[in-house]
Amino acid sequence: MIVSLIVAIAQNGVIGKSNGEITWHVKEEFQHFKKTTFGFPILMGRKTFESLGKPLKGRLNIVISRNKFYKTGFEEVIVRSSLNEAIEYCRSLNSEKIFIIGGGEIYKQAISVVDEMIISFMKFDADGDIKFPIINNDEWRIEKIKDHELFEVFRYERKN
Ligand SMILES: NC(=O)c1ccc[n+]([C@@H]2O[C@H](COP(=O)([O-])OP(=O)(O)OC[C@H]3O[C@@H](n4cnc5c(N)ncnc54)[C@H](OP(=O)(O)O)[C@@H]3O)[C@@H](O)[C@H]2O)c1
Repeated sequence: MIVSLIVAIAQNGVIGKSNGEITWHVKEEFQHFKKTTFGFPILMGRKTFESLGKPLKGRLNIVISRNKFYKTGFEEVIVRSSLNEAIEYCRSLNSEKIFIIGGGEIYKQAISVVDEMIISFMKFDADGDIKFPIINNDEWRIEKIKDHELFEVFRYERKN
């Protein structure tokens, strides 16, 4: 099973605001996210799920919360109490690939375990207090996938 992470990062490292507000709206980037993740399980922190407000269609949504009694209000959404438990759950389903989709707290834990990262580098700075962790480029084989007007997409594959 390939454990992948997908993220959009502004030029100043910002990925979001802790009050859950959307920091930018780039339709093409949302389309890239949808096309890449469609059909695969997606894993996210409880705060990211709440900022989405509802599950994303066409993908098994798995929410990570320390609260064992957390209810999403959607019976098709799975809740697990750690990143590792969520990954192991996907292994038990024999998923070919899964995507960790944020947010900041989850990315911090995921960056050391994922096999691959699909990163949209936005071509602008953004307001916000949540940043992506520092990436050590020496640990990754880096390939540019696509250039768009407002962002570039790179694939990072972990070496070894
Ligand atoms: N730019 C992007 O690509 C992108 C992608 C996704 C999200 N975002 C942004 O990121 C922001 C949200 O990020 P965030 O850091 O505030 O929150 P988050 O990572 O989405 O969620 C944090 C929550 O996840 C749960 N959690 C974290 N680690 C856990 C662990 N080890 N075990 C069990 N549960 C754990 C906890 O839930 P409980 O408190 O319930 O225990 C914690 O409060 C939003 O602004 C969103 O828009 C940006």
